[in-house]
Order: sequence, then structure tokens, then C-alpha cells
Amino acid sequence: MNPDIQRIGILTGGGDCPGLNAVLRAVVHRAMKDQVIVLGIKNGWAGLISGRINVLDRDAVSGILPRGGTIIGTSRVQPLGEPEFLPLIRSNWEKNGLQALIVVGGEGTLRAADEMYREHGFPIVGIPKTIDNDLCGTDYTIGLDSAVAVVTEAIDRLHSTAESHHRVMVLEVMGRHSGWIAALGGIAGGADIVLVPEVPFRLSQVCEALLHRRRTGRQFSIVVVAEDAKPHPQEDFLSNEQKGMIYRHERLGGIAQILANQIEDCTGIEARVAVLGYVQRGGSPTAFDRVLGTRLGIKAYEMVIAGEFGRMAALQGLHTTSVPLTEAVSQLKSVDPDLYRAAGIFTGK
Ligand code: F6P
Repeated sequence: MNPDIQRIGILTGGGDCPGLNAVLRAVVHRAMKDQVIVLGIKNGWAGLISGRINVLDRDAVSGILPRGGTIIGTSRVQPLGEPEFLPLIRSNWEKNGLQALIVVGGEGTLRAADEMYREHGFPIVGIPKTIDNDLCGTDYTIGLDSAVAVVTEAIDRLHSTAESHHRVMVLEVMGRHSGWIAALGGIAGGADIVLVPEVPFRLSQVCEALLHRRRTGRQFSIVVVAEDAKPHPQEDFLSNEQKGMIYRHERLGGIAQILANQIEDCTGIEARVAVLGYVQRGGSPTAFDRVLGTRLGIKAYEMVIAGEFGRMAALQGLHTTSVPLTEAVSQLKSVDPDLYRAAGIFTGK
């Protein structure tokens, strides 16, 4: 161990997801072996600004493995959001004797972590979490698998009601600008059509596929649409006003209802909508996310002790590794084309 490190901080920033508590528990337990103190920073970067920082001991992390969310809270506050934040952070950092910080976050939080490390010299290690799986350098982010499990169950449930009523069910799922949740959930749930942000869709092809199913004896269909999926410019059916409502980076949503209306108009088949929303982020983590959170928590702690700052713990294949934070946030990781192709095999003729 590195005898110089005795007190480290940890924060969870951005949207919550299942698996965060597994990280906290793993970091605390691993640090205890070295008698290193872990300080939990409340509500993401906001806690470093306001000074809401408390010791996380064994009792604090006891029994939290199956719990969703994060016991230390989160927020979308950014550390460099206002000029007065940085001096406050420095002063709280010193007051609490922090020597390193583990930042558990998605794209926005880790981008800020990277800047805090490179531009302002904070010794930071990142851990990737987001249901969107849109961070580079890691095959999986914590939370994706749990969200996909929720989508899968939802599709299973939609099947029975769609079949009974001979309807098209349009299910809108999260994922921000990437289609991982839609593609994985769609495949696992057996959706008939999956629409992702990375590939603009043609309404004519969607309708033709739905009519083909009907002609060949399938009286119902399930369409999964990612919240940022867009119609192909050559078949755009959205007004500018509708686009302004649906495609807001900070709050996407609404494509499913408009798409369902279009499907009814062009196929004559009754269509209904389900929007999963925050259900995808809530509840108990899957076994996979508990294991991933635990492994990445231990890895990040060990990176701190080894002085590997400015990097993010990651999963590549079956192994934990690390990548520069800059690389992790360099661009959004789009859905794997092979995966999307697999989802498309079940569409159409
Ligand atoms: O990044 C996770 C995510 O759930 C996205 O899938 C979604 O678009 C967004 O967060 C919602 O953000 P908020 O919690 O700020 O409403």
C-alpha cells in the first residue's frame, strides 16, 4: 500500500442507477484493509462545494448491496459551473484532509473530473456508471444491465396485452443519445422493431414491417423506440415544435406517442404507448451490476493507492483495467453495429 494515502473521498454524480451502492461498499471494505478512511461526499460535486462530507464506515455501507440509488445522494451540479465553486472545493478539500477522490459518474460528471484533474491538479480516479452505456474505454457501465432487465420485463408484459388486443405497442426507453438499452432490451424481450438514435428510421419501413407481420398471421407487434431515435430526413414527420419538445439533451422524451399516432394513421392498426422513464433507473441492481460495481470499486481504490490519477477504472472483456479519463469522455460510445444488426433480424420479411 501507499503509506502516504490515509483519507480519500468518493462522490456519485449525475443520474443515479442501480449498482452505485455496490461501489461504495466495495471501496469502503477494500480501504478498511489498509486502514484508509473513506469520506462520502453528499450529492455529487455539490457536497464538495457545500462541505457536506462524512466518514463512510463499515456500518454506513452495511446492507446496501441490494439497494438501488446511492446512499450518498447525487446531483447534476458541476464543479466548475460557477466561478466561486473552485475556491470552495479547494477549501473543503483541505478542511477534510482529502488526498484523493473517486468520482463515480457518467459522461458529464467524468468530463468534469477530467478537467478537475488536468486543469486544476486534483488527484482523481473515475468509475463509469450510467444506464446509457455511452462511455468509451469500457465495455459496460454500471447500471446498464439493470436497466436492460427492466426493459426486458416490460416487453414481456407488453406482449400479453398486445396479443390479446391485436395491437401495436410502442415502448419508449431511455439511453440519451445512444441505443444500447433499446437494442439489448429489444433483443432480450423479443421486440419486433427496434429504433435507435444512431440509425434514423423510415416510417414507411416500420409500417410495412408491421403490415407484413399482420399479413403473415401475427396480429400484434412490439416496437421499442429509444428516446432520441429520429426519423430519416427524407421521411420526417415531426414539426420543428415537436422536435423542440422531444430532443432536449437535458430531458428527452415524447417520440413514442407521435410515432404511435403515425403508425395508426399509416397502417390502420390500433397502437398504444408505454413510456418506461425512471423505472429503468430505479430498484435493486442485477447480479451483474452488483459484481461490476464491486470490481470497479476495488479497482478504482487500488488505482488511487498506485497513484494512477486522471484515469477511469474499466471493464474490457472479462477483465478490469484502466483508461485515461480523457479517452473515456472523448466521444459518446454508440451502440455496437453488430448488436443493432442482431436486433434488426427480427424486423420485416
Ligand atoms: O443518463 C441517464 C438518463 O437516465 C438518460 O437515459 C436520460 O435521458 C436522462 O438520464 C434523464 O436525466 P434526468 O435524471 O436529469 O431527468
